[in-house]
Amino acid sequence: MAPRYARGPFLGCRHGTGLLECDPVTAVPRPARYGHLDFNSPIAPRRADRLVANLAASRPATILDIGCGWGELLLRLAQALPEASATGIDADTELLDRGRANAAERGLEGRVAFIEHQGRAWTEPADLVVCIGASHAFGDSAAALTELHRLVKPGGRLVFGEEFWEQLPTRAQLERLWPDTSAEDMLELPGLVDAAIAAGFRPLRVEAVEQSEWDDFESGFLADWETWLLAHPGAPGADGIREQADEHRGWWLRGHRRLLGFAYLTLGRPR
Ligand SMILES: C[S@@+](CC[C@H](N)C(=O)[O-])C[C@H]1O[C@@H](n2cnc3c(N)ncnc32)[C@H](O)[C@@H]1O
Repeated sequence: MAPRYARGPFLGCRHGTGLLECDPVTAVPRPARYGHLDFNSPIAPRRADRLVANLAASRPATILDIGCGWGELLLRLAQALPEASATGIDADTELLDRGRANAAERGLEGRVAFIEHQGRAWTEPADLVVCIGASHAFGDSAAALTELHRLVKPGGRLVFGEEFWEQLPTRAQLERLWPDTSAEDMLELPGLVDAAIAAGFRPLRVEAVEQSEWDDFESGFLADWETWLLAHPGAPGADGIREQADEHRGWWLRGHRRLLGFAYLTLGRPR
């Protein structure tokens, strides 16, 4: 079981550490943030294991994860590749702190760097590039694939994790999704693979998650709020959190469930 760094600190008060995790007036702890998730994307443990084994087989010396969050896949790749050096970049300092703590816990702090940086502004290429659920750092899927191509060294690999439409949404389906979602926001799976090819990659592996992986992910995401609401039903802010959780659950169960897919494309850049 991977360490769940967020669980401890976020569920207790730690005033004076620079992080304000309790309401300053009531001293009620704030809800955890991603405390029930090992990865911040839908992925079953068996899929993560297989991805790591497949990618490690190409023996990359350098690994770059753009929009890494706390970088769980990056850390597992670094563990599988003891000679490799790994860099994770993200714009969210709190998530990067969790990544650093997990790296230290696994003895990887000398080989894995977590850097606060905008995805689009990174210029140093790597043998293996990972970009999962973070294409918005570049624009849309096609723009991300084009930009990522320059970051993959010739002969290297990209793992691109991206949402796609299982089928093009109707107007009624769009209305049940997040505000301002449009059919143009995502591609269908064949179009996503075509975009990867148009960007200069060859597809080595195309896989899409099962419904259970989405359900695990959304349940894990909501669990931070739901466990907090069980413990603090009448705390200041509880009504807002309840509303937020119910709204999010609606987008999932009435909106994107069985409509939205999530693909992991393993792509090769020809030499
Ligand atoms: C859905 S999360 C995925 C995190 C991670 N790749 C994973 O699969 O666990 C998207 C991540 O992209 C990061 N992100 C969003 N915009 C970014 C930007 N412009 N530059 C760098 N990171 C960004 C977010 O902070 C977040 O951690």
